[in-house]
Amino acid sequence: MKDLVFEEIEKNAPKEEPARQLYFIEALRSFVEMKKGEGYEAKAMVSVIGCQMSAKDGEKLQGILEEAGYQSTESEEEADVILFTTCTVRENANQKLYGRIGQLKHLYKKNKDMVIGITGCMMQEKDEVETIQKKYPYVHLIFGTHNIYKLAELLLEALISKERKVETWEDTNLIVENLPSKRKYPFRASVNISFGCNNFCTYCIVPYVRGREKSRDSREIVKECEALVRDGVKEIMLLGQNVNSYGLDREEELSFPELLRAVAKIPGLRRIRFMTPNPKDFSEELLSVIQEYENICNHIHLPLQSGSTNILKRMNRHYTKESYLSLLRKIKERLPELGLTTDIIVGFPGETEEDFQDTLDVVREAQFDSAFTFQYSKRSGTPAAKWDAVDEKIVSERFQRLLDTVRESSKEREGKYLGKVMEVLVEERNTENNMLTGRLENNILVHFEGGERLLGEIVPVKLEKSMGFYYYGSVV
Ligand code: 5AD
Ligand code: SF4
Repeated sequence: MKDLVFEEIEKNAPKEEPARQLYFIEALRSFVEMKKGEGYEAKAMVSVIGCQMSAKDGEKLQGILEEAGYQSTESEEEADVILFTTCTVRENANQKLYGRIGQLKHLYKKNKDMVIGITGCMMQEKDEVETIQKKYPYVHLIFGTHNIYKLAELLLEALISKERKVETWEDTNLIVENLPSKRKYPFRASVNISFGCNNFCTYCIVPYVRGREKSRDSREIVKECEALVRDGVKEIMLLGQNVNSYGLDREEELSFPELLRAVAKIPGLRRIRFMTPNPKDFSEELLSVIQEYENICNHIHLPLQSGSTNILKRMNRHYTKESYLSLLRKIKERLPELGLTTDIIVGFPGETEEDFQDTLDVVREAQFDSAFTFQYSKRSGTPAAKWDAVDEKIVSERFQRLLDTVRESSKEREGKYLGKVMEVLVEERNTENNMLTGRLENNILVHFEGGERLLGEIVPVKLEKSMGFYYYGSVV
């Protein structure tokens, strides 16, 4: 085994994908089997930092590792391979990664066979890759968002050569289908419908780290969803940076509402969600499809970002305070039972008190069920990074006022479903109160007593106590 040379193995590899990666998964499997003979335990851990897109990448890595003979573990101490999928949308996501890999130094000292690998959005930034190469010599594998599917090939090379392997790509037109993926929950899955983003909001790093928008072939998407349903999946989340522009980059492709309809028609699929629609191109047709199909969840996540027309213009969002509000009114008229959530940024460069008041106005009128609120974080390379920042103290003070207003405004909706019996998809057992936790169609959480056999099932639950953003109930 000592004489194994990666180049020899590579010589026989097919050039085309996914055949090439299937070949490398097999090669990695043989290598791992051989190493097991020497006492290698082949345990792997995938750690996700970031959004659903990053979590989905984590599932792909896990799928490849398991196919190659690795056993999953949640313990860093046990792991022979530790992979991170990273996020760089705000500075604190980067800090989180550095904290985590700093802690791994002592484990690496004990187990020099360990491979620590990092992929994801943060690895698309040259400066971050350089920092890791300089400061963390025990990180042996670095790859990006565009070549994540190459894990088996890259890991095998790192394992055989015992040298650091760094491979990141600026962008790609390639979409590699039909590689393994391991779901975190057996009953729930997310499915990529597109990759990348063409919107270039001026605060956002995503177009730079995820590249130009590329839609998947709708036939592949539907095929994947059908296979998931056959495999017991009850809820599917369709994922794209901006789902509304799905298909526009392909010839004769379905539009997003048409794709949603095609997925909704799959027999046995109980729930469909999607993330994220941009308010700028939210169509009437999309509303009609949501209304038409029972299994499309009554929940829309509609990022506001700012309620000020002036700031929205500087953010390059292509909608105004008034057009966002009129879209909301239309949505609520057509779908009165809808769960509505949003993202809001405070302290974007140039934001005045008057601009901020516009954001509070929208929050008061919209009465979001919940809002993910962020302080603006400067991302180098984006246009807004060159603009004058709002004073930190003012930002944190506005942030607090925003939180208070979100809480206040959602009060009116609190307890809206009290006493009703609603369907809950049971997700897990809550370790704090030992109760089962599940989600209503509108994304609101419900805790209730119940046995293990309910996990992954959709059950009717009576909502008995409102706790603001969640309920307590009991199975009927
Ligand atoms: N600063 C703060 N929040 C940001 N987001 C994206 N970029 C930034 C940034 N530079 C938020 C947006 C987006 C969510 C995923 O993260 O609200 O919708
Ligand atoms: Fe997700 Fe964006 Fe963070 Fe990447 S940078 S993990 S796409 S939120």
